[in-house]
Amino acid sequence: MRFFVGSDFEDSLRKTAFFILQIPLDENTRRKNLEKILVTSALTYANGPLHIGHVAGSYLNADIFVRYNKLLGNDIIYIGGTDDYGTPISIKAEEEGVKPRVIAERYNKRMKKDLDGLNIQLDNFSGTSRPRHIKVSQDFFTNLLEAGYVNKKTLNQFYDEKHKRFLADRYIEGICPHCKSEGARGDQCDKCGKLIDAMSLIEPRSKISGEKPIIKETTHWYINLPKFEKQLREWLATKKYWKDNVLNFIMSWLNEGLIERAITRDLNWGIPIPLENTKGKVLYVWFDAPIGYISSTMEWAEKKGQPDLWKKYWLDPETKLIHFLGKDNIPFHTIIWPAVLSKQKEPFILPYDVPANEFLNLEGQKMSTSRNWTVWVEDYLKYFDGELLRYVLAANAPETKDSDFTWKDFQNKINNDLNNVLGNLANRTFIFIKKYLNGKVNKTENIDKLFAENLFSSGLNNNTPFYFDNLEDISDIINGIDESYKKYKVRRAVQLILLLTRIGNRYFDIEKPWVTIKKNRSEANETLFFCSELLRRISILFTPIMPEAMKKLRKMMNLADDFEWDDIKKVPESFKIGEVSPLFKKIEDAEIEKQLELLKEGSEIL
Ligand code: 2FM
Ligand code: ZN
Repeated sequence: MRFFVGSDFEDSLRKTAFFILQIPLDENTRRKNLEKILVTSALTYANGPLHIGHVAGSYLNADIFVRYNKLLGNDIIYIGGTDDYGTPISIKAEEEGVKPRVIAERYNKRMKKDLDGLNIQLDNFSGTSRPRHIKVSQDFFTNLLEAGYVNKKTLNQFYDEKHKRFLADRYIEGICPHCKSEGARGDQCDKCGKLIDAMSLIEPRSKISGEKPIIKETTHWYINLPKFEKQLREWLATKKYWKDNVLNFIMSWLNEGLIERAITRDLNWGIPIPLENTKGKVLYVWFDAPIGYISSTMEWAEKKGQPDLWKKYWLDPETKLIHFLGKDNIPFHTIIWPAVLSKQKEPFILPYDVPANEFLNLEGQKMSTSRNWTVWVEDYLKYFDGELLRYVLAANAPETKDSDFTWKDFQNKINNDLNNVLGNLANRTFIFIKKYLNGKVNKTENIDKLFAENLFSSGLNNNTPFYFDNLEDISDIINGIDESYKKYKVRRAVQLILLLTRIGNRYFDIEKPWVTIKKNRSEANETLFFCSELLRRISILFTPIMPEAMKKLRKMMNLADDFEWDDIKKVPESFKIGEVSPLFKKIEDAEIEKQLELLKEGSEIL
């Protein structure tokens, strides 16, 4: 049974949707009491390829969650794409002397390739400069305006006299009025994460000419956020289950007081606003970007030959809409976006959860693309397998606080956790079975008992570097992994899976099958059946994080590729081991030194 506490705001949307659409629940979903989920990753600015910060911030966590839910049998789709408008793209285009569209299309393609290389499988990867998105965004603006939540205002803005242009967002830089750090931009300060009213920048400079701008009058359209305050507070009060870091961020935003925010800009790259005599005025990129989640879903539905299929997700109050993103994107998705969604003609669902991650640093320093201090996925894939990065970033996910990626840690994690622990368990188990048990082990009567027994108190907890509350036996650990995936706690899922593999190795050592085989074959069979069954369960539990490596593991055990989460409990009658090869290989010091050198030199891929 799903338990849901809705605010009046959300309830009224649900009721409208129910009466207008009479959306029938998919038969299969209803029968199995499964969930319908729509997952998004923040649309990445199309001004460069993908780097590990993007992966750790909003892609890998989403992909893991989606893979886990697919195994559960839930009806889930995963939507994303590139954020093609906005000043990051037009600035890059000007630097190269090409049209912004060329930049957007180039990086959209490259990012898709990077994602493929990491086995991050979105159901649709679109881009916001595609025609469908333009029309949908214009309609969103018109609906909000007609509903009475947009005000037109005349105001002063910075203007570059030399280039005869208003300086929107990133075209202006200066000192942050909040934290006083240099290099703050006209829209947001990277240092303190606060949104900035460009006019409050200290010592402003034009990014185009480097000169001090003049102030000139212009007209813009503003979303009346204060008018949403009551309904937003009520709705947010129902989100007690959101992550603490997200709730804290929102509360500090709300408590500073909501102000009207401009949703248009004077730029030539963007979606023209759908009003007469407004040439040169476009929608603010942050207004149209989240609408990209909808237009990308529409594109997906069309590609499937069922153009209305997007409604089954976006207009059904039963759908859980989950946005994965980095912490700097929190206010847009939890305040402005739900406000905009709620005033459309169609009854769009509002975000169910926004599991934002903190930031990933690199070798102890803040990642920065302008300083070329990052690891580009394209570069990474020239040297290592995508799966390894998935593992290291999952083990080190910045879920509750910033975390650090270092090449040395990358090497340690692959060599110790994967190679020496999991790889070793698989290798010693399979080689032993092949060598002494004719490649086959049979189910033993005590197998369920072994999985339910308090293995920790029988000595397996000695020497383990882990300590976990309430984990008495293997079944508890497995439930803990399940729970961790549900709650986006990928780090914990990794730790618990590692704990299982350590238990397997300890068990092997304690039972000493190399001794028992000499006098009692069935005792050796029992030990090896247990280890194989443990590996089989791990092959399911670890699939959301390392799908390819687990495929390889299952192939060695002659296990089918199409399995479900529920199969964890279905113990087979026997295991017949196929061809065995090492699951992982060690990373040498020289390989890591090379990466550190490359990092110092700076990548040339931009
Ligand atoms: O911060 C960013 O990289 C933005 N391009 C994220 C947009 S998320 C969504 F709204 F599309
Ligand atoms: Zn600041």
